[in-house]
Amino acid sequence: MIEAAREALATQGVGAGAARLISGTTEFHTRLESELAKWMSTERALVFGAGYLANLGVLTALAGEKDLVVMDKLSHASLIDGARLSGATFRVFPHKNLSRLEEILKSASGFRRRVIVTDAVFSMDGDRADLEGLVSLKERYDSLLIVDEAHALGIFGNRGSGLSEERGLENPIDVRVGTLSKALGVFGGFAAASETLIESLVNFSRPFIFATAPPPALAAAALKALEILQSEPDLRKKLWQNVKGIGDRHLWGDRQTGVCSPIIPIIIGDEKRTVEISERLLEKGILIPAIRYPTVPRGKARLRLTVSAAHTEADLNQLFQALPEVFNG
Ligand SMILES: Cc1ncc(COP(=O)(O)O)c(C=O)c1O
Repeated sequence: MIEAAREALATQGVGAGAARLISGTTEFHTRLESELAKWMSTERALVFGAGYLANLGVLTALAGEKDLVVMDKLSHASLIDGARLSGATFRVFPHKNLSRLEEILKSASGFRRRVIVTDAVFSMDGDRADLEGLVSLKERYDSLLIVDEAHALGIFGNRGSGLSEERGLENPIDVRVGTLSKALGVFGGFAAASETLIESLVNFSRPFIFATAPPPALAAAALKALEILQSEPDLRKKLWQNVKGIGDRHLWGDRQTGVCSPIIPIIIGDEKRTVEISERLLEKGILIPAIRYPTVPRGKARLRLTVSAAHTEADLNQLFQALPEVFNG
């Protein structure tokens, strides 16, 4: 990835120089979009300056004053901001409570468009959305479904393209949004959708239209990352071995909420105690950040453990030894 970025830097310079629709589009952007579309098994993809901007851009382009946006309560801040900025009526349903979502949709026939929004994997809890249930409600109530796959890319599915791939639901989901900054290790975001929806983003999505294109060297690095992600499936196997290795240990008893992804929360509750535990772990060479209000609700402070394919057995053993010492000490 470093080499790919270096080569692009040498020929393209550092910045893109202009917005995509002016003169900022390079062959790296168009190749990246076409590879992302293939990977996500969709007609087309559109790259944004960041995952945050992709969410803002998708929601503000697809929802407006006459529309209703209904969102899972634990969705990412960028989705919430996008919904607010869109000017649509904005309702939230309790986390994964599809009966409540259905009640809201049932009484929403007066809106021009209904847009259901969720994370695929929730960023602070690590649990997964019920995509089957959401797709069935979207179809029953003639709505659009937007799924943020940020924490599912590189993790789920044979191609590693997310939870929608694993569940075989790429097609019924209208827009899947992703980031290039997590599993792909670069920077930038994207939306994957039908030709028609992407074309409307090109024409109406302000963070796409009115911002300078991402640096071509980053697009080149992302292309390389995508190639590695698809050609080295053993990395994903190793990741899941590590996730399972941690889940199987039941290290923190009642606090364990179930291990469904590489994001593993350890709910402590009290903010001060959470920070203390995090600091004591750091003294033992282990980084598990303390997550507090406003990222999570008050009283739900937690350690957010994230495991990767790069962690070795020795790393995990170090963790298994340190956690009980810190909790009981
Ligand atoms: C679920 C989710 N969506 C979107 C984003 C934003 O992506 P980016 O960091 O590329 O702006 C993040 C976090 O970074 C996230 O956790």
